[in-house]
Amino acid sequence: MLAIASDHGGLGLKNIIGEWLAHKGIDYEDMGTFSEESVDYPDYGALVARAVGEGRAERGILVCGTGIGMSIVANKFPGIRAALVHDEFTAKMAGEHNCANILVLGGRVLEASQACGLVQIWLNTPFAGGRHQRRLDKIAALEEEVLKGTA
Ligand code: RB5
Repeated sequence: MLAIASDHGGLGLKNIIGEWLAHKGIDYEDMGTFSEESVDYPDYGALVARAVGEGRAERGILVCGTGIGMSIVANKFPGIRAALVHDEFTAKMAGEHNCANILVLGGRVLEASQACGLVQIWLNTPFAGGRHQRRLDKIAALEEEVLKGTA
């Protein structure tokens, strides 16, 4: 299952991505926001990051105005590798090199059709492993050290 969420700045794009996922037959849960009322992106970023970090969702998609705030929030959570992507190349690298488990998009940055294309690339790009796995292992080790206060 894919968890998706946005703030008001990403609402339109998040809804379009939800429709696109449904059209593709991809199982997802929309965790909000559900109206254009101004909300705080950390509240919604945390919902998806927790779901992915705790294994209730395999992967997640977060959208805010620029994607910056959602990236900052999601990467605070253990086990989360959230990637803010802007184009086909960064979407591919997010999967191939970073094994990003959350894709972050800017609703005020991207056109809807481009954004759905980036989601497709990220979903379809396998992790390359090898030297990239070594780097992910180092990120996980750093995360442990930070949690223990020894970093
Ligand atoms: C909300 O106005 C905006 O700050 C938010 O969507 C996002 O761009 C933050 O990074």
